[in-house]
Amino acid sequence: MDIFEAIRQRRAVRQYSPAPVKKEDIHAVLDAANWATSGMNRQPWEFVVVTGKKIGEMGESYRRVSEEYTKSWNLSPMRGSLSREEFIRFAGTYGGAPVVIVVLTSTDDSPDLRKANLESASAAMENLLLAATALGLGTCWMTGPLRDEKTLRTILAIPPDKEIVAITPLGYPLGTPKDQPRLDPALEQKVRWVE
Ligand SMILES: Cc1cc2nc3c(=O)[nH]c(=O)nc-3n(C[C@H](O)[C@H](O)[C@H](O)COP(=O)(O)O)c2cc1C
Repeated sequence: MDIFEAIRQRRAVRQYSPAPVKKEDIHAVLDAANWATSGMNRQPWEFVVVTGKKIGEMGESYRRVSEEYTKSWNLSPMRGSLSREEFIRFAGTYGGAPVVIVVLTSTDDSPDLRKANLESASAAMENLLLAATALGLGTCWMTGPLRDEKTLRTILAIPPDKEIVAITPLGYPLGTPKDQPRLDPALEQKVRWVE
């Protein structure tokens, strides 16, 4: 798939088929992530690939926090037509995805290096999402589960010198979520040309 097509087709998928994802496809999306650009070429990312009952444990934690932070929601414009109940259902199972990938980076005492690490790992995350789209797989960049970071760290045995950057389910989408309209599709406000 052409890169522009992958960019346009990527959606935050919150409902997955339980069908397994081939190991070579998981490897392919991680390889795409590993080819991301990085500050000073430090390649400061690591990936935790979660399958099986640990996803249920992660979901239990995310369901608890999402019940809290969605209290004021009816329908969230951020989440298209998803109701609060549907969102909590998604949270509780990570949408039923058979795989969850957690992107980590190194912590750093220097604010500049910490920022570069987070940005580099985010570049890796975006590569991962686009590669997954190209393979017909769904993803959803998630940071909400970090509201219960302590539990997440315990479940996945993440050491204190690693920072959790983002999490995504990975699996075959059940249905295609609709596009989220662009705030400035003609790029009239978001771009300033300096000539
Ligand atoms: C930094 C970041 C954090 C996000 N955290 C969550 C999250 O915790 N839960 C979730 O369901 N979606 C999360 N999303 C997905 C966004 O809600 C989604 O990308 C946005 O609504 C636009 O939809 P689209 O990806 O289909 O274009 C996150 C996205 C980003 C970039």
